Amino acid sequence: MEHSTPPSSELLEIAIGVARDAAGTAYRMRAEGVSVAATKSTITDVVTAADRAVERQITAALRQLRPADAVLGEEYGTAERGNQPPARVRWIVDPIDGTVNYLYGLPHCAVSIAAEVDGQVVAGVVRNIHTGEEWTATVGGGAWRAGQRLRCSTETDLAQALVVTGFGYDPRRRAHQARVVAELIAHVRDIRRLGAAAVDLCLVAEGRADAYYEKGLAAWDQAAGALVAAEAGLRIGGLKGLAPGPDMVVAAPPALFDALHDHLARLDASGGP
Ligand code: IPD
Repeated sequence: MEHSTPPSSELLEIAIGVARDAAGTAYRMRAEGVSVAATKSTITDVVTAADRAVERQITAALRQLRPADAVLGEEYGTAERGNQPPARVRWIVDPIDGTVNYLYGLPHCAVSIAAEVDGQVVAGVVRNIHTGEEWTATVGGGAWRAGQRLRCSTETDLAQALVVTGFGYDPRRRAHQARVVAELIAHVRDIRRLGAAAVDLCLVAEGRADAYYEKGLAAWDQAAGALVAAEAGLRIGGLKGLAPGPDMVVAAPPALFDALHDHLARLDASGGP
């Protein structure tokens, strides 16, 4: 049984090194040409050879550096740990968040790695594969990019807020999400759909948009990005007092949270398929 875990700063250093190498691999594979290797939940939910290769690389690196830890990844799920006792540290990995952008060569996709200790995310890094922008956070240690501490938007009026969201891959879910956004857009400055939840959360963390919400995120889409956002001062929650999760993640400055929340609750944004 593991009694002590390294400080979150040490876990972050590991995550950063692994994410940089992984982003390098993803970038090279994109330059060499990329195609769809398989589809997952629907025909638009694609996986490329790079998603798989990058996740294998990340898992192997983490295994080497921290053999007793668990790893949860988007493409391969929970990596086998043999007959070892339950791990206190779990790495949550999205090898390429924004796979469709990656496929099309759109520069809004990232490697996302978070470290969880006893079920709480304590460190995370999101690294843009194309631009090299790198957002990091540790719990209680702030959110950072390029040596600058990040602070979220100070906007207080939802009518002037730029709101980022995303859509799932299931057409019925998308139809519901589109109805929600069609109503919400009349109450905000504008809507953006950029295509990579991890990066979306980091952009909101540094005030390059004001708020974010999405239904249907998996743990790997949001673990690192949500820590970056929270450490930059955003309030993160679900609807009607629920914790953020697959039903809904709302990330908004404290002064905007209730107004955005109330619209989303009224529009049943966490409902539907
Ligand atoms: C997707 C992206 C997208 C979001 C979807 C996610 P993937 O992740 O983050 O922005 O709207 O909900 O599934 O499939 O590119 O790793």
